[in-house]
Amino acid sequence: MSTEALKRSVMSALSGIVHPHTGEDVVSSGHVQNLEVGDGGEVRFSFSLRPRDPGTLVKEVRTRAEEVDGVASVKVNVQLPQTAGAGPTPAAGGDGAGTPKQGGLQPGSVPAPTPRPGILADTDHIIAVSSGKGGVGKSMVASNLAAALAREGLRVGLLDADIYGPNIPRMFGETRRPKVSGEKGKEMIEPLEAHGVRLMSLGFLLEEEQPAIMRGPLIAGILRQFLEQVDWGPLDVMVVDMPPGTGDAQLSLVQTIDLDGAVMITTSQAVSTGDVRRGVKMFERVNTPVLGIVENMAGEIFGSGGGERLARDLGLAFLGRVPLDPAVRRAGDAGTPTVLDAPDSPAGQALGEVAARVFASVRNPETVG
Ligand SMILES: Nc1ncnc2c1ncn2[C@@H]1O[C@H](COP(=O)(O)OP(=O)(O)O)[C@@H](O)[C@H]1O
Ligand SMILES: [Mg+2]
Repeated sequence: MSTEALKRSVMSALSGIVHPHTGEDVVSSGHVQNLEVGDGGEVRFSFSLRPRDPGTLVKEVRTRAEEVDGVASVKVNVQLPQTAGAGPTPAAGGDGAGTPKQGGLQPGSVPAPTPRPGILADTDHIIAVSSGKGGVGKSMVASNLAAALAREGLRVGLLDADIYGPNIPRMFGETRRPKVSGEKGKEMIEPLEAHGVRLMSLGFLLEEEQPAIMRGPLIAGILRQFLEQVDWGPLDVMVVDMPPGTGDAQLSLVQTIDLDGAVMITTSQAVSTGDVRRGVKMFERVNTPVLGIVENMAGEIFGSGGGERLARDLGLAFLGRVPLDPAVRRAGDAGTPTVLDAPDSPAGQALGEVAARVFASVRNPETVG
């Protein structure tokens, strides 16, 4: 079949999907844009997910396209709505450089995903979540970022690389250990899956009693091999919960994984210790863009505003302020990320907005200050 004919078949299949709210089909409504078909049947298009669109819409569209005869693969560039008017705006020196463009992307401006050689080759975007020190809510934000993007219909992986305190599986209510499958010599590790997110923890590599001091060098040596053996499948986004700090373990991770960018988490008071600045410097040294700063646990106890000031100081985007909120602890106990467990709580809302900003900034790197 010619690529033109295949393109028409895909268009017609997609125009069979009716938007549950508007009653219009997703092609006429302009949700589907820039459809391209490669010689080998590779289909690629943009899908602009609008406020109040059901998150399942992307999955439905992808599945429908995959079912068309002659289609070999489907790549959907999901565009989340820009977060206009929602909470604090990114502060990039007040010159507007951190403000996302209005009205989403123009046709043709979606950059083609660049192939990633080797490790995690089938993943479009890899985002590290990092912090100057532990206990500031890094894992909490990483979990919610992953869960919020999965809720929008994206295929999301979450790698718990915090070898000093792996706890991501627990935050997703997972207590199983991953299965290993495949023939001898070619074994693959299957990620766990919870709340629509594929999960893997470097902690599974280590014995409980392994002293923390041995973990850094150990991980550096086996990280690549481990990551190559995890059967992630194709992913739109991979979120990496980094170990806190700027030591060897962090550096070897950053050098092994080709990151799109890093999100720095801090509390208002942790800002003053300089750890956050050192973290930002580490990423800059290895040419990994820092997407911005999130201030967590804002409120009377820890104060507020420090993260935003630091972002302004460093010329970085401010990605949002998450209040200290009992809903976060309850969600932790329930094994469900807050954006799913209590989406309307103050923290749930703030985390949803952070996720939208982070995703917008990896889709449009030029909008980050
Ligand atoms: N905004 C918040 N409101 C209430 N509790 C929070 C908030 N952020 C984090 N916590 C709690 O603080 C603790 C540390 O968070 P965690 O994500 O494990 O930190 P880190 O990964 O940086 O060490 C956890 O018990 C978590 O539930
Ligand atoms: Mg943690």
